Amino acid sequence: MSAKTYRIAPSILSADFARLGDEVRSVIDAGADWIHFDVMDNHYVPNLTFGPMVCEALRRHSVRADGTPVPIDVHLMVQPVDALAQAFCKAGADLVSFHPDASAHVDRTLQVIRGEGRQAGLVFNPATPLDVLEWVIDKVDLVLVMSVNPGFGGQSFIPSALRKIERARRLIDASGRDIRLEVDGGIKVDNIRQVADAGADTFVAGSAIFGQNDYRRVIDAMREQLA
Ligand code: DX5
Ligand code: ZN
Repeated sequence: MSAKTYRIAPSILSADFARLGDEVRSVIDAGADWIHFDVMDNHYVPNLTFGPMVCEALRRHSVRADGTPVPIDVHLMVQPVDALAQAFCKAGADLVSFHPDASAHVDRTLQVIRGEGRQAGLVFNPATPLDVLEWVIDKVDLVLVMSVNPGFGGQSFIPSALRKIERARRLIDASGRDIRLEVDGGIKVDNIRQVADAGADTFVAGSAIFGQNDYRRVIDAMREQLA
């Protein structure tokens, strides 16, 4: 298990899109650590969401009551990657993650994001091996293991993700670097502990949180499982 503190990153994919700013504020008031922002392009994945302008508009809502900014964790499900990655960096994203299979030059894309002063992440689909990490782990700030196939909220957790999280944890620990290990898809109160035990330290949850009226109750219940 990681010695780092756990982070809960609600995915606004399952929020009310007609009231996104309010939803971001509500989920932060309810205890969110990061805001997870799912960017889908109807090309890399069969769905379409929002772009850098929406990220920029939400930047001023992604703050705590005392004014402290809450990191915006952008998950790019787009192809090609580089131009949009850069646009999101300029739009105020704190972390920008992409799928290595969507970029022709993974090392270059990581450099684009870090060159903008943002943290860079690599995302691995359920059937994608972690191989590229061996060559670029020195340029990675976050590893995101998908526990569903990307494109939609509300899917069921794919159990093989647990083995991939364990493997990613070993690679991260061996690197000695400060890299977060995030998991995305099908995370609920009743499986978050098992995912943490596999080695994850950051948890995306969309439908589990936004599907309930009381966001705080869900986030508190998740933290109780993690305690
Ligand atoms: C799927 C997205 C996820 C999604 C998770 O492509 O990357 O972030 O919103 O949703 P839930 O928690 O509902 O599985
Ligand atoms: Zn996501």
